[in-house]
Amino acid sequence: MPISDDSIDATFARMFEKLQGIVPEAEIRYKAELAFEINQLKREKNAIILGHNYMEPALYHSVPDFVGDSLELSRKAASTDKDIIVFCGVRFMGETAKILSPGKTVLVPSPKAGCSLAESLTAEDVRNLKKQYPGVPVVSYVNTYADVKAESDICCTSGNSTAVVESLDTDTIIFLPDEYMAGNIARETGMKVIFPIKNPRELGKQHKDLQYTIIGWRGRCEVHEQFTVDDIKNVRKQFPDAVILAHPECSPAVVQASDFSGSTSAMIKYVQENRAERYLLLTECSMGDNIAAENRAKEMLRLCSIRCPHMNEITLEMTRDALLKNQFQIEVPEDIRIKAKKAVDRMLAIG
Ligand code: 13P
Ligand code: SF4
Repeated sequence: MPISDDSIDATFARMFEKLQGIVPEAEIRYKAELAFEINQLKREKNAIILGHNYMEPALYHSVPDFVGDSLELSRKAASTDKDIIVFCGVRFMGETAKILSPGKTVLVPSPKAGCSLAESLTAEDVRNLKKQYPGVPVVSYVNTYADVKAESDICCTSGNSTAVVESLDTDTIIFLPDEYMAGNIARETGMKVIFPIKNPRELGKQHKDLQYTIIGWRGRCEVHEQFTVDDIKNVRKQFPDAVILAHPECSPAVVQASDFSGSTSAMIKYVQENRAERYLLLTECSMGDNIAAENRAKEMLRLCSIRCPHMNEITLEMTRDALLKNQFQIEVPEDIRIKAKKAVDRMLAIG
């Protein structure tokens, strides 16, 4: 929720209350000035700011009207009546907002905010897979670009991937592009994962052997692939009471060794609702700061000081400039948008 924007001092006071001990006071003071300016601009321009859970703590706790995971923010993008959507997240998220709200101006504050998963796969790759596996439904993780979504039957997010796969009521799917998420879905559904085979004749043989099959792609999140089972063992040795939470973009072995796996918002909710005092978060580091700010009595352990370089592109300065200069506008060609929207709407209908 946005904080009061009556004055810079009021903005600072509210941010300080949330962030003291997490962000240095001088930084809060500087960022409060920016947040004040952004909240004024937002009102003048009839804009809404959506903030992904990975935004840095001062941004996260000051300017977004809504914060959340990809699924929650897609829903907000679909239902807003504002003229401008500023998406403090990465490009594929802005594209999803534009797919759902074509009449709005959608801005992502940095043109460099990509995603290693989205970049691992092209629409041409999907067309080739469909030729290789005719009639097999294509499920695409939302961490893909619009042209890939347009080639897909249905999308999913980390919050609903298993529900989406189960809704298809089929024994074989193509799941793109996250190899680890495919493995995690396979574990939950009892399916098996195979990776594309060049010769379609070999495919026929494979299908006879495998009753329930996910045809996967070797895309990975450059952040979540860094966590290992050894990391978990080391933390459990030092902090036997720590509850371990892993995002489904972590490897199946890491997810299996953890206590809970879910979308970024599901992890936040888990910490809020659980009584344990110590947690290890196997996800992007800033989210640990954001959870710590809201749960002062709980300790958030983090293994990795590396932030997602793409999410890290989004700063308060860039968000202010986005509103001032109407940049960087997301455009999706209409033919692609219409096809992609079918896949996104089908997912949203599932929940
Ligand atoms: P969520 O949908 O869980 O927020 O995940 C998005 C993402 O990019 C995680 O790396
Ligand atoms: Fe993409 Fe991973 Fe960054 Fe999420 S954390 S935006 S999946 S690179």
